[in-house]
Amino acid sequence: MKPEQIKIVKKTWKILMGVDPKIIGDAFYSKLFSDQPSIRKLFPHDMNQQYTKLVDMLSSIIMNLDHPYIVSPGIIAMAKRHSGYGVKPIHYAMVGNALLWTLKEGLGTEWNQDIEEAWTSWYQTLAEAMIQNS
Ligand code: HEM
Repeated sequence: MKPEQIKIVKKTWKILMGVDPKIIGDAFYSKLFSDQPSIRKLFPHDMNQQYTKLVDMLSSIIMNLDHPYIVSPGIIAMAKRHSGYGVKPIHYAMVGNALLWTLKEGLGTEWNQDIEEAWTSWYQTLAEAMIQNS
């Protein structure tokens, strides 16, 4: 990721943090489960806690984004937990698509090509790190 892209990801995430995590979580998981219904069974029936867990984890990863490499012990541990949930490498692209879609919806008219490239680069780095450590 380029330094400008780190700035863009941080800045746009701050804007989205003005929105209730339940709204972001609901948009993200609704998109994910409607595109990929087979993934639903990996998650618990009640998704309320999952919304805040996801948003808090993304916030913590993004706050710590000043280093060129994203792979921290926390991410390695998260990758291992994800293997235990039954998550496979192929699922990462599906989650990435739903996440990009949610960000785009959330930012509305503020969305542009640079923002899309910055988030794509961020997610690819994270997903590769998780896949390699799972
Ligand atoms: C790449 C970025 C991802 C992030 C930041 C992320 C974040 C999280 C967090 C914070 C949790 C809460 C529990 C924990 O920390 O272990 C969680 C749980 C979970 N995630 Fe992810 N996740 C990611 C990718 C994925 C992918 C690709 C899948 C595949 C479908 C997935 C499926 C799940 C499932 C099934 C749970 C467990 C729910 C439960 O049983 O409570 N995640 N994720």
